[in-house]
Amino acid sequence: MLKTTHRLEPFEETLRNAWAAVTLVKVTLSMPQKDAAGVRNLKARPVQLKDGRRLCVVECYATRETTQNHGPEAGIALLVQAFAQTFERAHVFTTAGDFQFRRERSGELSVRATRPAFAVAPSLAHDRSKQGREALACEPFLQRLGVTTPDGSPRAGMAAKLRQVHRFVEILGHLLADAPLDPTRPLHVADMGAGKGYLTFALAHALRAKGWDARVTGVELRPELVESGNLAARDLGFEQLRFVAGAIGEWQPEGALDVLVALHACDTATDDALFQGVQAGASLLLSSPCCHRELRPQMRLPTMLSPVGRHGILLERQAEILTDALRAELLELSGYSARVFEFVEPEHSGKNLMLAGVRRSDLGGDKEKERQSFLGLWSSFGLRSQRLASLLGEQPE
Ligand SMILES: C[S@@+](CC[C@H](N)C(=O)[O-])C[C@H]1O[C@@H](n2cnc3c(N)ncnc32)[C@H](O)[C@@H]1O
Repeated sequence: MLKTTHRLEPFEETLRNAWAAVTLVKVTLSMPQKDAAGVRNLKARPVQLKDGRRLCVVECYATRETTQNHGPEAGIALLVQAFAQTFERAHVFTTAGDFQFRRERSGELSVRATRPAFAVAPSLAHDRSKQGREALACEPFLQRLGVTTPDGSPRAGMAAKLRQVHRFVEILGHLLADAPLDPTRPLHVADMGAGKGYLTFALAHALRAKGWDARVTGVELRPELVESGNLAARDLGFEQLRFVAGAIGEWQPEGALDVLVALHACDTATDDALFQGVQAGASLLLSSPCCHRELRPQMRLPTMLSPVGRHGILLERQAEILTDALRAELLELSGYSARVFEFVEPEHSGKNLMLAGVRRSDLGGDKEKERQSFLGLWSSFGLRSQRLASLLGEQPE
């Protein structure tokens, strides 16, 4: 069906109807005019935020995007204005039908209605796709913590942190699905060394978006960060999140601990945190080790690796690899399936590894084989002590 009119009312009306009927899937504005200041296209979709359904509008440029959340009135007005002033095409996807609008040179508006490409609207809380990342960037907690501006763009110097938050939520989603968790009972999640709480809030947000009843505790040494974290949690309505002052290794969870997170906990604080998780029988351990100082002074390179020792940086990297490999072996030995993978792209941070442990259902495993594997690595480098090995009682005499 092709209809031609002179003004943009049909476009506005289509948006209003779809919004009211909750059938709107997404809107794309494309084909910018020559004077469009570099903007290539504009995308919008409904998102569910704490204070209701909003239109998340993303402006795409060649090398960046800006994201902004609007109430329906302001959001629709912005789309109408952008279509009137900047773009020649608009595509409105709804579960009831799709509408392609075209502004003709004559000033007339043509509209072509077709069958819907989407039979159901995607979940508003969907967090794994690009849409999920855009919605996350608009979350009020990221603004409160100074990561994003009110329009959902990263603040100066915070782009890497925003990428880290996105990636963390994405990884968490995959690992939660793998871990032997029972989402029908309340879960307890601890974030050890929570700092300012960027990832603690992201954790609480992701679990809430999944509809899980999960209590999240951020454990942090510095009382001022605990206080500001608790204030933000209260102001933003995160009832299931609290920060407590305490030290990794000393703080004890009340009741069960299902997921333990320790991101960028310095040096052997990562070992202390992993040990707490193992001891508590947590189903999922997630750590991103940072500064590995313990092994380098005691590490003796096996003969075949002696060329590594000629270069300080390689020696340092070797010590890091060895530390995390031993930790992974120790997790295997403790009944976890260990995974080591890239957390964020190396160009964004030198500390880019994630070491995860998913509790195996067959807790038996071949302990002797696992122990031999660990001991082989240990003796090859002439090690004397390692914190996690010592805490787990696996350190050779
Ligand atoms: C590098 S920051 C990481 C913060 C956060 N996890 C992140 O990745 O954004 C490390 C935080 O751990 C805290 N911390 C260091 N040692 C700790 C310990 N033994 N117990 C609890 N918190 C500790 C520090 O105060 C700091 O806020």
